[in-house]
Amino acid sequence: MWAVEVKSLSYIHSMGTPFAKQALKDVSLNIAQGQIVGIIGPTGSGKSTLVQHFNGLLAPQKGSVNVLGRSTADKAVRMNLWKEVGLVFQYPEQQLFEETVYDDIAFGPKNLGLNEIEVKKRVIKALDDIGLPEEILSRSPQSLSGGMKRRVAIAGILAMQPKILVLDEPTAGLDPAAKSRFLNLIRKLQQSTGITVILVTHSIDDAAELAHWLVVMDRGRIALQGKPKDIFKQPERLIQIGLNVPVEIEVTRKLFEMGIPVRTDVLGLNEAVEEIARIRDRRKKTGG
Ligand SMILES: Nc1ncnc2c1ncn2[C@@H]1O[C@H](COP(=O)(O)OP(=O)(O)OP(=O)(O)O)[C@@H](O)[C@H]1O
Ligand SMILES: [Mg+2]
Repeated sequence: MWAVEVKSLSYIHSMGTPFAKQALKDVSLNIAQGQIVGIIGPTGSGKSTLVQHFNGLLAPQKGSVNVLGRSTADKAVRMNLWKEVGLVFQYPEQQLFEETVYDDIAFGPKNLGLNEIEVKKRVIKALDDIGLPEEILSRSPQSLSGGMKRRVAIAGILAMQPKILVLDEPTAGLDPAAKSRFLNLIRKLQQSTGITVILVTHSIDDAAELAHWLVVMDRGRIALQGKPKDIFKQPERLIQIGLNVPVEIEVTRKLFEMGIPVRTDVLGLNEAVEEIARIRDRRKKTGG
């Protein structure tokens, strides 16, 4: 069973008004369970509209969306999806409103109707999953740094123990160090829990290292999808869509064009550095 199965989905916002805007056009994709899938594309390409179909916030107008084997055309299915699909919006920390971190994280599990002991267990587990110390439970969310607040907001979603976690622009506004810490955390979380993660982002760099599968959107359609390595074999296409190409891809391509026999399918800066060092060492040995 797929985590998410989308068939020929089209969607028009404000349909039937002068503001009508077609956000999705004939989109089809499958998301496997237990994977990290990156959805990338420029502003307005339809990323948020697409993922809002995954937790039942939007109902398909045309085509179909099945989540964990159930059709979201059914209102009862949509109404219950919040329990299984955690959707984290951009700047989720703006939705922290309780007096303590504990109360904020406990909010979702309480709504699931769990008893106090179970709620507490969930809160502690979520905190651990997202790499926060227990000391912060009694603090006010407002007293925390931006990166910490965001982790608290995500802990609140994790405490519901969703099967699918959708993060819409999760690193927006974080400084580079916080961003990199956050992405590593998501990777570890996915590995330890086996949760399906859907990561929506403008930034191809965010998606490049993390995702097992990439979906590239362009003006409401899927332009490309595949393994990151295969997607980056088409840098011209990405640039044409208005996306940047990861810096390591750009550098290794340039070297290759200069006649240096470097692999051009590296992913991440570390792999690129290793590959370039490998070529250098080989040249030293052969005196080339
Ligand atoms: N509620 C709405 N009413 C009318 N048009 C909308 C609405 N929401 C989105 N749109 C339009 O639909 C298109 C797709 O928007 P969407 O938010 O899905 O894109 P996105 O890829 O998430 O963009 P961003 O990267 O800026 O978040 C855009 O042209 C947008 O202006
Ligand atoms: Mg968006």
